[in-house]
Amino acid sequence: MNHESVPLRDFKEINDWDTVIFLYKSALKQMDTKIDILNDEFLNRHKYNPIEHVKSRIKTPESIVKKLKRHGYESNIENMVRYVNDIAGIRITCSFTSDIYLIADMITKQSDLTILSTKDYMKNPKESGYRSYHMLITVPVFLSDSVIDTKVEVQIRTVAQDFWATLEHKMHYKFEGDGPDYITKELRECAKYVADLDERMQELNNEIQKYGEMPN
Ligand code: GTP
Ligand code: MG
Repeated sequence: MNHESVPLRDFKEINDWDTVIFLYKSALKQMDTKIDILNDEFLNRHKYNPIEHVKSRIKTPESIVKKLKRHGYESNIENMVRYVNDIAGIRITCSFTSDIYLIADMITKQSDLTILSTKDYMKNPKESGYRSYHMLITVPVFLSDSVIDTKVEVQIRTVAQDFWATLEHKMHYKFEGDGPDYITKELRECAKYVADLDERMQELNNEIQKYGEMPN
């Protein structure tokens, strides 16, 4: 069957909040399953698990409105669908930095997904010290009479990067983006340790791999 898909912003029922949220939720369900299958296949084939955990979430209406306001847009469904890219978000946490690129590559190769953009905050960490790999993709959601390409933001990071990002986010939230200098500086310093730790753990893993397959 050959379906012509349309982006969510052109969907005829875009003015209905519940329908739009239903589409984002459906896109996340599809992604959750895809990631699950990839992980199982990997476990079967290579006897190892590239993914530690996966968490998906739908942005709250309050944060959607806040984000639109911050970017100077009026709060309506059309603007939200067009300008808020992380209404549906999925975060994949893995052990090693090499797993990040492996997972990103597996996602990129899925022919039904469209990669709208990627941001490699591994190669180019943010000023804050933040490292992760981001992908903005669309997932086709099959309805009874149409196929809707729905945006999902994918964040892929190591356990260590996730540990750091969670604490940094907490600080950001608490001080509304304007944290005390000494904390910001200390976090930036910790980000360096995290990057160093990830690199050393990666190298150690490579060494361990040289000794052949691990017993189950
Ligand atoms: P927003 O930051 O969401 O407005 O979007 P953006 O266009 O700047 O996209 P980007 O890919 O940079 O960030 C998207 C998401 O990544 C954020 O919502 C956070 O979840 C995460 N993120 C980005 N930068 C940081 C950071 O410095 N610290 C932490 N803890 N998380 C970050
Ligand atoms: Mg940002």
